[in-house]
Amino acid sequence: MKEKIRFINNDFLEFKNPFGENIDLVFLSPPWGGSSYLSEGVYDLSKMKPDFKRILKKSFEISKNVILFLPRSTDLNQLCDYIDTVFPSKSTYLTVESVIYETSSILGIIIYMGPLFMVF
Ligand SMILES: C[S@@+](CC[C@H](N)C(=O)[O-])C[C@H]1O[C@@H](n2cnc3c(N)ncnc32)[C@H](O)[C@@H]1O
Repeated sequence: MKEKIRFINNDFLEFKNPFGENIDLVFLSPPWGGSSYLSEGVYDLSKMKPDFKRILKKSFEISKNVILFLPRSTDLNQLCDYIDTVFPSKSTYLTVESVIYETSSILGIIIYMGPLFMVF
């Protein structure tokens, strides 16, 4: 298995595909900016650093399929607005799943985007 794993430690925004073939999917756990999101009613994606639009754009440059791990309080309407802004002509299905802690509280949400996840 280890021959199939390659670790690349670099700025994600500078990532260039070294594989010479399509990348099946991108999984991202971007920085939420510390624990202050816990006390905010709604997590504001515009506060994310690096800039969330750049993260989104770069992800879809790398692969057609993107999985994002985001705070549970993410505003899904804001997320859709971002997707529309970055890709005005793109039609994307979003599948949203909650991630549950052992204590039964919801930690975050997983967003699945792209044709790989259109299983309906
Ligand atoms: C929410 S944490 C993810 C932690 C990871 N999921 C884990 O379980 O260890 C966000 C991570 O993104 C990294 N990061 C921030 N900006 C980055 C960038 N431009 N390129 C690559 N990684 C970055 C941070 O260093 C941090 O480790």
